[in-house]
Amino acid sequence: MGRLLYDESNLPEINTLVAPNYDNIDKDSVEPAKRVGVLTSGGDAPGMNAAIRAVVRAGINAGFEMYGVTRGFHGLWKGEIKPLDGRSVSETLQRGGTFLMTARSKTFTTDQGVLKGARMMEAYELDALVVIGGDGSYKGARALARIGMPVIGIPGTIDNDIASTEYTIGYDTSMNTAMQCIDKLRDTASSHERCSVIEVMGRHAGWIALNVGIATGAESILIPEVPYDFNRDVLRVILDGRNTGKKHYIVIVAEGVGHADDIAKQIEEATGIESRPTILGHLQRGGSPTLRDRATASLMGIRAIDCIKDKRFNRLIIEKNGKIDDIDIEEGLNMTKTITQDLIDNAKRLG
Ligand code: F6P
Repeated sequence: MGRLLYDESNLPEINTLVAPNYDNIDKDSVEPAKRVGVLTSGGDAPGMNAAIRAVVRAGINAGFEMYGVTRGFHGLWKGEIKPLDGRSVSETLQRGGTFLMTARSKTFTTDQGVLKGARMMEAYELDALVVIGGDGSYKGARALARIGMPVIGIPGTIDNDIASTEYTIGYDTSMNTAMQCIDKLRDTASSHERCSVIEVMGRHAGWIALNVGIATGAESILIPEVPYDFNRDVLRVILDGRNTGKKHYIVIVAEGVGHADDIAKQIEEATGIESRPTILGHLQRGGSPTLRDRATASLMGIRAIDCIKDKRFNRLIIEKNGKIDDIDIEEGLNMTKTITQDLIDNAKRLG
């Protein structure tokens, strides 16, 4: 289809451009897509395979030739692109990780890197690219869209921190993994009458920490969105618990707030209660996806293909009020999201 609007000699700063909104373009003037690429980018998330599978199978059913790009934008840039047939996604639905592999590409944060990626799309005659990933990946997709290459974004990150959507693929699995680990830590904390300080993922977002904290009955939950007072919100809660006969304690800290090691040391020094840190780390990104993640990923993958079929490019697939929908990529990336006060208040009522 070849819609690249610029070359090396006339490329403006991509930041100054706006991706075309196909809802405002006469559909008869837009050529239908024939070849569609799909990639996963950024941190992997359980359910990404289910999303790729749905994109590939629904794409083939819609009559598209499907291509997989390995290692995210890095692979696009290097031309690591191969055809995918219906069978190539067999036995992937239940597997964690992403069989297309993923990467965080620095090159793709530069305008020349994006242009080279667009050139690869042209060279492989990819009429549209489905990008499965988080905010950083969406920015890469938006840059391609801004210079004329049609894209669709599917939200895949355990952090649930993409503003345009209520839900991101991988979130449920990672929370369940964290919950199961914390239940195990509770057993040993209780046997030893200790405080267990657990660091969960979420650099800028406390979604995992807050929900997992509620689900595991944590004494304190520290998240980046809510300023806290260490004496009041951690030490006082533990000491009050001890005064009523409590023998073990769970403190959950989102990685964006601080380190489990430091917090455990401070608690032990101030209270005399033996405290042990655990960093759940990348454990939370692995494992077979839950039903929620497989089902949502599958429906989002189908929606991505529907957008391409309807010549509605440059869309982000979202969940809104529990339903799968889509939104313009520029609009979606301008939105902000924060944890609702309700959830924070409810967590406080239990803490
Ligand atoms: O993908 C999101 C995430 O898991 C964050 O929660 C975490 O901060 C980050 O990725 C870790 O990234 P890396 O895999 O590069 O260590």
